[in-house]
Amino acid sequence: MSNDILSHTEAGVTTITFNRLDKKNSITGAMYAEMADALATAAADDAVRVLVFQGHETIFSAGNDIADFLHNPPSSVDAPVFQFLRNLSGFPKPVLAAVCGPAVGIGTTMLFHCDLVYAGDNAAFSMPFVNLGLCPEAASSLLVPQMMGYHRAAEALLMGEPFMAEAALEVGLVNRVVPPTEATGIVMAQAKKLAAKPITALIATKRLMKQGQAALIQQQMNDEAEVFGRMLQAPAAKEAFGAFMEKRRPDFSKV
Ligand code: COA
Repeated sequence: MSNDILSHTEAGVTTITFNRLDKKNSITGAMYAEMADALATAAADDAVRVLVFQGHETIFSAGNDIADFLHNPPSSVDAPVFQFLRNLSGFPKPVLAAVCGPAVGIGTTMLFHCDLVYAGDNAAFSMPFVNLGLCPEAASSLLVPQMMGYHRAAEALLMGEPFMAEAALEVGLVNRVVPPTEATGIVMAQAKKLAAKPITALIATKRLMKQGQAALIQQQMNDEAEVFGRMLQAPAAKEAFGAFMEKRRPDFSKV
């Protein structure tokens, strides 16, 4: 593993940490591949009972690394980003997340596949796919309307503007809002409580809660991946990504 993703297991809890602060914990293909592997390993390892994602007190993740996406676009459903999402959405044991600061794009959509989410009061969730000339991923086009209701989902996904921790609490995306300094501690305490419970009961309960939608989520992810892959090569995304790299406002008037 590189230093950009840290993973360690202690007392039955595997913790995956975004550790790329200089680039706001944005995620490269290599990082997705590492996380996909870590999830597969943790799923198969009887010593692992619970999985935790965390970032930093100031930033959870700025989402896809835009430069990496430009140079190594995910060209098939086997791309690391989609492997990561498949392994996360199918992960059989409880998954928790501690989210502080911005959670952009997949930094937010991955949370729809976590079981418990604790947010710092500085957490800002956003899904600005449209602003980047893209479409939603991680089955968020299905799961966001389901959780938030259609109109709030349309605001989040069509406007792409951030919403804060309290709003996320209100719609049920997070379980509790706490001071950023406390988020990791609370998640670890909850993870330890879960790790002490019978793993067979945890796995069965999670599977039963999720099984009604599992095939639908997979289908939605595949459909999104196909559209997303095409849009990534299209003029709107090229303009948006070029503007980000050149630190200017995008001009969509010609696309
Ligand atoms: N991909 C690649 N690099 C990124 C990045 C991303 N998604 N997000 C931030 N960075 C880099 C910046 O380019 C900058 O690099 P530099 O120091 O070499 O110039 C560094 O991280 C710091 O970013 P900056 O924008 O100055 O930090 P900030 O605290 O002002 O803002 C964010 C933080 C997360 C709000 C802002 O960086 C942002 O909006 N990023 C883009 C998010 C995005 O659109 N993600 C894609 C979703 S699909």
